Amino acid sequence: MNILVTGALGYIGSNTTIKLIESGYKLYLLDNLHNSSIDTLNKIEKITKKKQTFIEADIRDHNEINNILKKYKIETIFHFAGLKSVKESENSPEKYFEVNFEGSKNLIDGLNLQKIKKKIFIFSSSACVYGNPKKLPYKEDHPLSPENAYGKTKLKVELYLKQTSLSNTNWQAIALRYFNPIGAHSSGFLGDNPLNDTPENLMPYISRVALGKLTHLEIFGSDYDTNDGTPVRDYIHIEDLAEGHLAAFNFLKNKKNDVYEEINLGKGKGYSVLELVETFQKINKINIPYEFSKRRLGDISKYYADVEKSKNLLGWKTKKTLEEMCKSSWEFEKKLKENE
Ligand code: NAD
Ligand code: WQD
Repeated sequence: MNILVTGALGYIGSNTTIKLIESGYKLYLLDNLHNSSIDTLNKIEKITKKKQTFIEADIRDHNEINNILKKYKIETIFHFAGLKSVKESENSPEKYFEVNFEGSKNLIDGLNLQKIKKKIFIFSSSACVYGNPKKLPYKEDHPLSPENAYGKTKLKVELYLKQTSLSNTNWQAIALRYFNPIGAHSSGFLGDNPLNDTPENLMPYISRVALGKLTHLEIFGSDYDTNDGTPVRDYIHIEDLAEGHLAAFNFLKNKKNDVYEEINLGKGKGYSVLELVETFQKINKINIPYEFSKRRLGDISKYYADVEKSKNLLGWKTKKTLEEMCKSSWEFEKKLKENE
C-alpha cells in the first residue's frame, strides 16, 4: 500500500509517522519545512532504524502534487500539512485559505484522479470547528460554527472531503477532530517545537519558562465560569493521538464499503490551565512563575470531547495521564536545550 504523509516532519505528523513505520508501513514523507526542520527526518530514521523517502514539496503546488501522487501510485494520504496559528489566521486569512484549504483540495482532487480500488484520506481537523459550545461534551453532531479564520479553513476542508468522498466511488475518508495535543515521543526527540520565540500555545510556553528562556507564564483570565476561574481544555498525549490515527487507518482498511466519518480524538476529560501548571510543577519538580492577565480574545471558557464514537468505531481510547503529558513535554524541552 502506497502511503503519503503530508506535514510529516511536524509535531503530529512525525509522531504518527513513527507509529506507522513501527507497524510495518512503507511511507512517502512530504513537507515544505515551513514549520519544521530536516533534522526531524534524521530523528525519525534514528528512532525507527529505517531510511525514509522524503519529498520536499508544497501542497499548494497543484501540478507537483499531481505528479507526486501519480509517480508514487499513492493510495492513502495522511494529511497533516498546514498552518495552525489562530492569531496569524486572523491577520492573514488569505494565506490560511491558500495553504489549508486549497492545499488540501489539491490532495483530495489528486487522489480522486488516481485509478485505484480504494482511496483512503485521513485529515487533521480540529475541535475548533465546533465553536462556542451549545452542549458539552462536544459530540460529533454538535453544530459547527468556528470562531476564527483557522477554524473556518478546517471546516471548509471537512465539507469538501465529505462532498468528494460521497459523490465519487472507492472513497474512505475520516476527518479527525483533535482536541489539545501536548507531550512528546518517549525517546524525547519528537515534540512541539514552534519556531517562533514566543509560543502561542500553553505547553510550549510553560516549557520555555521552565528552561528560563521566558521569565513567567501569563495566564489569560482568572474569572471564567470554571472551578478555579481558568479555562478548561481536553489535553491529549501526542502518542495517544498518533495511535488514534493508526486505529482510524485500521478501521478504514477493514471496511469493504465507502466511508466518510468525522471523529473526535480527545481524552474526554477537561483540565484547567492552573491544573496543568500545577501538575507540570509537581511531576517535574520545577517552579513555573505565573501571573494572571486579561482574557485572550476569542478563548472559550471550557470544552472537552465526547469520546464514545472513537471508542465504538475505532476501538481506541487514550491511555496516558496528564502527569505523563507534562513529564514528556519537559524531557523533550531539556533534550532540545542539550542539543542547541
Ligand atoms: P506543525 O506545524 O508542527 O506541522 C505541520 C507541518 O506542515 C510542518 O512540518 C510544516 O512545515 C508543514 N507545512 C506547512 N505548510 C505546508 C505546505 N504548504 N506544504 C507542505 N507542508 C507544509 O503542526 P502540527 O501541530 O503537527 O499540526 C498538524 C496538523 O494538525 C495541522 O493541519 C494542524 O492544523 C492540525 N491540528 C493541530 C493541532 C495542534 O494543537 N497541534 C490541533 C488540531 C489540529
Ligand atoms: C490553552 C489554554 C489559553 C497560552 C488552540 C487552537 C485549537 C487547537 C489547539 C489547532 C487557553 C491558555 C495559553 C498562554 C494561557 N489547535 N493560555 N497562557 O487555544 O485551547 O487551542 O490550540 O487546531 O484550534 O485554538 O490552546 O494552548 O493556545 O491554550 O493562559 O501563554 O491556555 O487561554 O485557555 P487553545 P492553547
